[in-house]
Amino acid sequence: MEISPNGETAVTDPWPGYFDDLGHPGARRIGAGVEGVVYRLGGGVVAKVWTGRPPSDVMHQVYADIARHRLPFATPEIIEIRRHEGVAVTYEKELPGVPLRADSAHEQYERELPGHQRDALLTVLRGLASVPGTDAMRRLSVQGDDRPLWQGHDRFQDALAALVVRAVTRSGALLAPYVPDFSAGADRTLTALKALPDTPVTAIHGDLVPPNIHVDAAGRPVTVLDFGFYTTAGDPAFEAAVTAAIWDMYGPHAEEHTAELTRLFARELGHSPAALAVYQAVYALTTFDLFGVDDSEGHFRWCASQLRRNPVFLGRAS
Ligand SMILES: Nc1ncnc2c1ncn2[C@@H]1O[C@H](COP(=O)(O)OP(=O)(O)O)[C@@H](O)[C@H]1O
Ligand SMILES: [Mg+2]
Repeated sequence: MEISPNGETAVTDPWPGYFDDLGHPGARRIGAGVEGVVYRLGGGVVAKVWTGRPPSDVMHQVYADIARHRLPFATPEIIEIRRHEGVAVTYEKELPGVPLRADSAHEQYERELPGHQRDALLTVLRGLASVPGTDAMRRLSVQGDDRPLWQGHDRFQDALAALVVRAVTRSGALLAPYVPDFSAGADRTLTALKALPDTPVTAIHGDLVPPNIHVDAAGRPVTVLDFGFYTTAGDPAFEAAVTAAIWDMYGPHAEEHTAELTRLFARELGHSPAALAVYQAVYALTTFDLFGVDDSEGHFRWCASQLRRNPVFLGRAS
């Protein structure tokens, strides 16, 4: 706490002092998100102070599994996890590039999706789809859930179907007032999900929003970070579907951007449009209650609106 010249008290950030005591003078805050605050310590190391759920040992292994593959972009590497006064602090390698942009809640996205953004997304999706799914990835749980996604399942689609059932059981009654014919739509989504063909499973990031991709000066993706929110092993079409949906959630052209990216990923990556629509409905049905459970909260409202126009949920898929 500091007393400012006009006599008001201001809260001083205690963390740079803490890092200084540990031998890292000059720690500077470089990023902040939903789950924590990130400081550059120098020497190629950053520290992340977690307000949300810190990465588990399993996550550590997942990062190692991904790093074994030669991807055209860097991915996180955890050096050490410590605790300070009950707060988890992870020390990680500093990753190159700058965030592709701020998220769509904080910056207006123009109508035209820049070509370099489309190319960056295709590079990231192709790269992640080249990493085979591993045991550690299957042991992760999706945010808000109470068990590893794959526990008791040997097909991705069955594991996801069980997650949909858990989320709908947990809070479906709170979403139903905002989505006409909710329970029939959820049933249609489950039926379509379970009928999807098996595919080899690959690494799924699950939260490819613009701040989680760093680019170089030419706009090429050089880093993909912030795994964990929905990270698992799964059908690469799931990653493509979710990315198309969440890339621009809150901008004035969000709906068009989702439609355009969904078509782009179907065409360029060979995913079936029907499967992409199924996974988009599944994403909404499994995340809607994570930040709030009525339409005063943006993510909840967004999920409801996704479902109100999803062709699989509505039973209008060809
Ligand atoms: N290892 C790192 N190297 C460089 N920048 C990082 C690193 N980790 C996080 N950042 C920066 O901090 C921001 C927030 O970190 P992130 O892991 O995405 O947290 P959150 O879950 O809070 O979104 C990122 O968008 C990124 O720009
Ligand atoms: Mg982030």
